[in-house]
Amino acid sequence: MEVLRDAAQMHRRASALRAEGRAIGFVPTMGYLHEGHLSLLRTARRENPILAVSIFVNPTQFDRQEDLESYPVDLEGDLAKAAAEGADLVFVPEQKSMYPDRYGTFVEVEGLTRRWEGTYRPGHFRGVTTIVAKLFHIVKPHRAYFGQKDYQQACVITRMVRDLDMDIEVVVLPTVREPDGLAMSSRNVHLTPGERRQAPVLYRALGWAADQVRRGERDAPGLAEGMRRMIQEGTTATIDYVAVCHPGSLEPLETVEGPAVALLAVRFSKVRLIDNLVIDRH
Ligand code: PAF
Repeated sequence: MEVLRDAAQMHRRASALRAEGRAIGFVPTMGYLHEGHLSLLRTARRENPILAVSIFVNPTQFDRQEDLESYPVDLEGDLAKAAAEGADLVFVPEQKSMYPDRYGTFVEVEGLTRRWEGTYRPGHFRGVTTIVAKLFHIVKPHRAYFGQKDYQQACVITRMVRDLDMDIEVVVLPTVREPDGLAMSSRNVHLTPGERRQAPVLYRALGWAADQVRRGERDAPGLAEGMRRMIQEGTTATIDYVAVCHPGSLEPLETVEGPAVALLAVRFSKVRLIDNLVIDRH
């Protein structure tokens, strides 16, 4: 496994691999790898002759400085995990090399970024699309892998790739959950033991909504209200949003007539969690 710290070096390596006709599967991460990331690495490993991973805590996607400062880091552990999953290349750039002095170019997807995370984390998606576009230029992947846990992020990146004619296949893989249903996230370490016990209520609420739809319920605002009540009664978290939306446009639905996605975000004392579930009538 090769660890590359310099963008120019990574650029050259990726160009050489492409010239040899070898397809690159790429998993961009912010590190502190957990099973959710590892499931992306495993699929990318299976589907591509070359597996590239990046580890970079991207400052431009954090809307709050304290969230950036408290983001967990374990580079040594991450490199060991990437090696164990058979990664060929790990790109670990310095902040200064990704955002040199007088950096001034940003990529922004309109529309899809307006609601939900876009409302509660201003500038977040602009940071995500900017860094992902930069990483795509440097790593030159044929396929890039993202988790469904960040549902809106996956939609936004898919749209960016389409709108900017990037010749990259975006692969979105299912959320990996703890045995009690909590979606895996690097941020879960910041839950207090009490909050950790409450947190599975989020997935239970999503599951309840999916079940209601299978039983014939069609009232989307009513479903959102039911989930909201379960979270309020079962946790000490503050709710940012709970919504039942169209799975492509992410606009809130009035009636569930086809596939839909339930999205939610809540704030515990030191950590904000998001989760989602695609729901269908069957
Ligand atoms: O999902 C993440 O970990 C990040 O948003 C990403 C895609 C690596 C960009 O920094």
